[in-house]
Amino acid sequence: MRIEAIGRHPACIESLARWHHQEWGALYDDWTLDVATAELADHATRTSVPTTLLLMDGEDLLGSVSLLVEDAPALQDRGGPWLGSLFVRPEARGRGAGRLLVDAAVAHAAREDVQVLRLFTLWHEQFYASLGWQAEERTSLHGTPVVIMSIRPADRVAHTGVLSDAVWTTHD
Ligand SMILES: CC(C)(COP(=O)(O)OP(=O)(O)OC[C@H]1O[C@@H](n2cnc3c(N)ncnc32)[C@H](O)[C@@H]1OP(=O)(O)O)[C@@H](O)C(=O)NCCC(=O)NCCS
Repeated sequence: MRIEAIGRHPACIESLARWHHQEWGALYDDWTLDVATAELADHATRTSVPTTLLLMDGEDLLGSVSLLVEDAPALQDRGGPWLGSLFVRPEARGRGAGRLLVDAAVAHAAREDVQVLRLFTLWHEQFYASLGWQAEERTSLHGTPVVIMSIRPADRVAHTGVLSDAVWTTHD
C-alpha cells in the first residue's frame, strides 16, 4: 500500500467523487456530485493545501483523505486548515487503512508547516483520539452534534516518526 498524490491518479477522481458524495452529500448544501468532482480535479493540480492523498494498493484505490483550507462553512471562524473526507472503501476497512491515511495527512501537514490541523467528526472521536487528536469543542452542524478536534502535526510526527515521502510529486 502506498500513499500517493491524487495528481498521479486522475482516473480515480470520478469514482472517489461518487463515494464522497454518497457519504456526505446530505451534510452540505449545494455540494453536488459535479462540485465534488471539480474539487478533487482542483486538488489534483497541487500537493500543497488544499489537496487529497490516496491510499493505493497497486492500481487499486483503497481510500483517501483531504487537507482543506475550509471544511464546513459554519466552522470557518475556528481556523484551518482541516483534515476532511477521510474515506476507506467498505471492503478495505478494519485493516489499518484509515489510520495510515490520517497519519499520512498529518505528516504532510507537518511538511507544509501547518501549526495546528483541525477536523470535525460526528461518530469517530475515539478513532481520532487514538491517533493523537484532542477534542477542542462540541457544537452542532445543521442540528447534528459534532466534535471539533485538533492536532499539532509536528508533535505527532515527532511521536510517530511517520514522514511525508517522495511519492508526493504530482507527475512522474
Ligand atoms: C472511518 C474509516 C475511515 C475507518 O477506516 P478503517 O480502515 O476501517 O480504519 P482502521 O482499520 O485504520 O481502524 C483503526 C482503528 O480504529 C477503529 N475504528 C474504526 N472505526 C471506528 C469508529 N467508528 N469508532 C471507533 N473506532 C473505530 C478500528 O477498530 C481500529 O482499531 P484497532 O486499531 O484498535 O483495531 C472508515 O470506516 C470509513 O471510511 N468510514 C466511512 C467514512 C467516514 O465515516 N469517515 C470519517 C469521517 S470523520
